[in-house]
Amino acid sequence: MLDTIIYDVKNNIGYITINRPKALNALNQVVLGELSEVVDMAEKDPNVKVVIITGAGGKAFVAGADIAAMQMMTPSEAYDFARMAQEIYNRIQYMPKIVIAAIDGFALGGGCELAMACDIRVASAKSKIGIPEVTLGVIPGFAGTQRLPRLVGLSRAKEMLATARKVPADEALSIGLVNHVVEENPVAKAEEIAADICKNSISAIALGKRAMNEGIEMELKKGIEHEAALFAVTFSTEDQREGMTAFLEKRPANFK
Ligand code: CAA
Repeated sequence: MLDTIIYDVKNNIGYITINRPKALNALNQVVLGELSEVVDMAEKDPNVKVVIITGAGGKAFVAGADIAAMQMMTPSEAYDFARMAQEIYNRIQYMPKIVIAAIDGFALGGGCELAMACDIRVASAKSKIGIPEVTLGVIPGFAGTQRLPRLVGLSRAKEMLATARKVPADEALSIGLVNHVVEENPVAKAEEIAADICKNSISAIALGKRAMNEGIEMELKKGIEHEAALFAVTFSTEDQREGMTAFLEKRPANFK
């Protein structure tokens, strides 16, 4: 039984909706525990080809880690809390399926960090994204200091950290913090992207995602060599046979 998250599967999409709208979907241990559970379910379910993560209520994706839950934490409890979230976010980044964040409203602190762990981010025009932790006397703890500079560059990330500014969606688009901005209903745009993904080879996408995730952490020459090894793996799949045969037979590929 889930209390703070709604999980649903439709048309090969696993929908994870953080559902604590009264607290703007802030993340406490219960939400993180349930997020871990549903991420596992989505990863293991062969019917799920793409995952969409969103927030309920129309005001926030996630407004951060739960400040009330953190107020009295000891340093050791804060460390465990951060590690718990980081481990789940890492699983999202490295899972062999594409994960899309559909941001409708505030994505702040732990919410911005959750969105950054996803592969693709779609935001509605009213969304605001930022890492305002320094206004609370802390720093980002769910990998924001690591993922944000990798996404937008070190200098922009430092400015966002130090000013705590909530970056509007159009600016987030221009600095590469989100992939798309839509007037409203970012879930519909995420579904459109998911539908395009589902037409392609899911096993190839998993290996391509892995090549990028692992390669970006390597020296270029090593990353390129790693790509060749994973390219070779695709030649042991049914999808490679089907994809190339379909092309040569001038018909659409029928991937399973
Ligand atoms: N934790 C706990 N509760 C939160 C919350 C959070 N991160 N964000 C919002 N809420 C709660 C508010 O306390 C409020 O609850 P009550 O109705 O019971 O008072 C409710 O959600 C609605 O929020 P507001 O009344 O503040 O709504 P607003 O429209 O005036 O402002 C906001 C919206 C600008 C997002 C504001 O709520 C805000 O600044 N929230 C905190 C954002 C933040 O600092 N996030 C970072 C958290 S630290 C972190 O995430 C650390 C990390 O990296 C792990």
